[in-house]
Amino acid sequence: MSNSTLLFVFIALIRYTCGVRINFTNCHHPEWSCVNNVPNEITYTCAVTKNDDFIIHLKDFYTDHVHTVTIQNCRDLRVVLDCPILQRPSRLQKFVIKDCTRLEFVSLSASSLLQTPPEVKLENIREIVSFPRNTFKSPSTNSEFKCMGASYYRRIHIVNSIINSINTKAIYNVSGVKSVEFENVTITEIQSEGVEVVTGNDNTLFGLINCKIDKIGFKGITIQSSTTKILHGAFGDITTNSINVTADNLYIIGNTFKSISALGLNTKSVNTDVTDNSIDRLRTDALANVKCCRKATNKKRMHFNRNEIKNVEPYSLYFDYASCKSAGSQIAYRENKIDCKCRNIAFLNSQSSNEQNSLILNLTNNNTCLVTSCVLPVEIVKLLESDMCHLNLDPQVMCLLYNDKHSTIKNNEVTTDDDVTEPAPTFYLIRQAKSLHGDAGAAMTAIDKDDLLKDSHLNMTNRTIIKVVFDSSKDFVETLRSTSRTRSRPIENKSPPKEEYVSHCIGTQCRNTAAYNRQRALDFYKYVYAQLRTPRQSVNKKT
Ligand SMILES: *[C@@H]1O[C@H](CO)[C@@H](O)[C@H](O)[C@H]1NC(C)=O
Ligand SMILES: *[C@@H]1O[C@H](CO)[C@@H](O)[C@H](O)[C@H]1NC(C)=O
Ligand SMILES: *[C@@H]1O[C@H](CO)[C@@H](O)[C@H](O)[C@H]1NC(C)=O
Ligand SMILES: *[C@@H]1O[C@H](CO)[C@@H](O)[C@H](O)[C@H]1NC(C)=O
Ligand SMILES: *[C@@H]1O[C@H](CO)[C@@H](O)[C@H](O)[C@H]1NC(C)=O
Ligand SMILES: *[C@@H]1O[C@H](CO)[C@@H](O)[C@H](O)[C@H]1NC(C)=O
Ligand SMILES: *[C@@H]1O[C@H](CO)[C@@H](O)[C@H](O)[C@H]1NC(C)=O
Ligand SMILES: *[C@@H]1O[C@H](CO)[C@@H](O)[C@H](O)[C@H]1NC(C)=O
Repeated sequence: MSNSTLLFVFIALIRYTCGVRINFTNCHHPEWSCVNNVPNEITYTCAVTKNDDFIIHLKDFYTDHVHTVTIQNCRDLRVVLDCPILQRPSRLQKFVIKDCTRLEFVSLSASSLLQTPPEVKLENIREIVSFPRNTFKSPSTNSEFKCMGASYYRRIHIVNSIINSINTKAIYNVSGVKSVEFENVTITEIQSEGVEVVTGNDNTLFGLINCKIDKIGFKGITIQSSTTKILHGAFGDITTNSINVTADNLYIIGNTFKSISALGLNTKSVNTDVTDNSIDRLRTDALANVKCCRKATNKKRMHFNRNEIKNVEPYSLYFDYASCKSAGSQIAYRENKIDCKCRNIAFLNSQSSNEQNSLILNLTNNNTCLVTSCVLPVEIVKLLESDMCHLNLDPQVMCLLYNDKHSTIKNNEVTTDDDVTEPAPTFYLIRQAKSLHGDAGAAMTAIDKDDLLKDSHLNMTNRTIIKVVFDSSKDFVETLRSTSRTRSRPIENKSPPKEEYVSHCIGTQCRNTAAYNRQRALDFYKYVYAQLRTPRQSVNKKT
């Protein structure tokens, strides 16, 4: 036995000697109440006894009569799980703990077998210290089987509680169970291999509903059930290989995720609904193991709808499309709102016709960018040629750009909210100090002021910064001239094609409107872009 185990046993024994041991005597003691006055369904109320510390040995209830034990209103409760050698299987089928402040599961010896009854409910527990290893597991020895009094769990239900830690193999080899549900539970940590549930076949459920889980270790959650519901939860980082679900019906709905890493979610399901989730960062290959499952049923689906993804890393939006095609699933990828930073979504523009790209970009699917100034379809990526990704494009500029290309689409107008007073757009150009032959096409970036400040740690050793404040009262070429530092800079020598900066405003009254400024900003942007793009052959010949 290790020192820490000895210490643990010692502490447990000390506490045992201090606390009140909950033991059933008869139905007439004030702290006990029995349904119908017979000792089958019995309830112990801690608060009746003036004490803070209670301890219950489950083995004390493996009698001929007791079927259900409920313990309630305890300040501090310890539950000893050690399973003794029994002559006959226990009759205890249900164990409930509710309305307690602190609950701790203990074992008095590292070599003890542990076993809980087939139905366990924990409700309104302010703090569950942990689920130690083997708290919930199907009986694998004859002794464990007798202690459980059944071959399989029926139900494990945890409601309105806080669990500090679900330790490695705490819920382990739980097979044949009908349902395992966590509802309104905050879990600080699920350690590696903390939860492994393989339910029986029909109408079985694994549910994580309204739960908050900060940390999930490697293979932290492994589930096989006919239905798995992960609803309205709040998750920290879903690290690689932390969640693995095999199910007929999988619902991942209304959750928030701080991030999902490569292969973080591994799912295989006949019907998959990933909808209304909010994800701060979806990392490359996050969904690559989200698969469809073949099954001989008429209806099979993979739905990825109405999710909001604040940071999309390249290739993070792809699930295992091929598995869904071959399973014959109905696939929907609709109404998602995603970050449209050019660099991040450029992969959707790949030349090889990728069916998932078409699915995401298809206008009828209504996937849009997370920008507020307009409804901007993810299709914008088609306008962002690869060299434009060097620009840190203002979303508003993207709106203008898209709107400009689709000016016939009426419902795509840029919002012109007069209540919003906007400063004149400010652009900064950063270009290489010594560009080859003073070539205007050399690497250059345009970013806006805020980004510049934010990124001031950027390495700009060999670059000069030219501040360009856009002033709508002046022609933008004039603006450029007035703000450029060196007369020899090539931009001013090169006159841009006339049509690129023709004013779209008629009448002097529109000069100061936000719409006018935006239009000028777009013209300006287009000019800058024209300078940036790889020079066309014809342009090259002229210079
Ligand atoms: C608990 O109660 C049972 C009888 O109900 C008795 O046999 C046993 O000795 C009691 N244990 C303790 C520790 O009091
Ligand atoms: C899992 O539980 C089953 C009984 O349900 C048992 O036969 C098997 O040995 C257990 N496996 C492990 C690894 O404990
Ligand atoms: C979970 O919490 C919500 C809101 O606090 C409450 O409405 C719901 O009844 C709770 N669920 C359970 C099973 O107690
Ligand atoms: C997920 O779990 C299943 C068994 O439930 C296993 O066969 C599969 O390999 C696991 N997937 C990953 C990626 O770990
Ligand atoms: C877009 O989706 C619609 C409806 O699913 C389909 O009819 C159309 O062919 C798709 N367009 C492209 C370009 O794939
Ligand atoms: C597309 O999405 C926008 C915003 O999410 C919504 O207002 C609009 O009704 C949707 N259009 C269709 C055809 O679903
Ligand atoms: C610029 O960045 C390079 C590579 O990151 C680094 O080696 C160099 O020291 C940096 N220079 C300055 C002045 O920060
Ligand atoms: C900066 O420019 C100088 C001279 O052109 C060159 O020798 C040096 O390698 C450049 N440094 C970086 C970090 O590009």
